[in-house]
Amino acid sequence: MEKISLKGHDFLKLLDYTPAEIEYLIDLAAELKAKKRAGVAHRLCEGKNIALIFEKTSTRTRCSFEVAGYDLGMGVTYLDPTGSQIGKKETIADTARVLASMYDGIEYRGYGQEIVEELAKYSKVPVWNGLTNEFHPTQILADFLTVKEHFGRLSGINFVYMGDARYNMGNSLMVGACKMGMNFTVCAPAEYFPDKALVDECRKIANETGATLTFTEDVKSGTKGADVICTDVWVSMGEPYEVWEKRISDLSPYAVTREVMENAGESAVFMHCLPSYHDLKTTIGKEVGEKFGREYMEVSDEVFESDRSIVFEEAENRMHTIKAVMLATLTD
Ligand code: CP
Ligand code: NVA
Repeated sequence: MEKISLKGHDFLKLLDYTPAEIEYLIDLAAELKAKKRAGVAHRLCEGKNIALIFEKTSTRTRCSFEVAGYDLGMGVTYLDPTGSQIGKKETIADTARVLASMYDGIEYRGYGQEIVEELAKYSKVPVWNGLTNEFHPTQILADFLTVKEHFGRLSGINFVYMGDARYNMGNSLMVGACKMGMNFTVCAPAEYFPDKALVDECRKIANETGATLTFTEDVKSGTKGADVICTDVWVSMGEPYEVWEKRISDLSPYAVTREVMENAGESAVFMHCLPSYHDLKTTIGKEVGEKFGREYMEVSDEVFESDRSIVFEEAENRMHTIKAVMLATLTD
């Protein structure tokens, strides 16, 4: 693997990265994963410190940044959604300058993409996007590492995304798939297709990489021959509870079920960034499920728990890929 220098770069969205840089981060993550498995310590950022800002809740992203930070030998400070002055008493620009004077890198999870971009503008140290409404770039690195582990390649993979494709996951997967020369299909009602300006930008990228981009409302033709069937929650963090009713009504035909997986083909796998409403064992899952008479939302429990589901490999890969992003942007 040829080294690509990314020292000092922010990681805000995949649009800012070349296919070679994305591939490099994925391969670096695979190397770090192998080292971790072999018990080889790699405290390659010893003496550095990072700040993690979370304006929305998290399990995977927070834990990934923390564990990756510890493995790299760094000190880690977690700022929870209520425990700092950000936004309420202090601007993002001021926060950026304060944190950048003390820390070597800053992670941000929150609302608009413009907030993380603003943070990066005023920060002299790398800023990493841990999820905004528009993009979730570290998740896509983990997803693509998982695809590469499973299929041995990214180029030419038939990747189908079902559900609400207008939000962070649909947007980021579309950008990533176009960058990496994949065949990306959105299978959803037309109202849930990504924003036209982003689609146009992705089409240009696809023309250069050989990727294809398909949008369809038809589940049968949309999922036929898929290597990967992927979905996400129908209601994302920060959206009001009231939208559940319309989402369920619109997106129920696009839930990932056994029929969808069988139609995709024998070798198709199921992916989901998690958390997922695949049963009624969570507070929200139970409340919404009972109210609307459903046993699951975006994926059936049968598919989620099946051999075709690689969601927990995908979740583990969050840590290895986030470690790669931090290592690459913090060191020579
Ligand atoms: N996939 C993901 O970002 O999970 P968390 O919300 O738990 O961080
Ligand atoms: N679209 C989801 C992703 C969670 C990781 C959300 O924003 O809540």
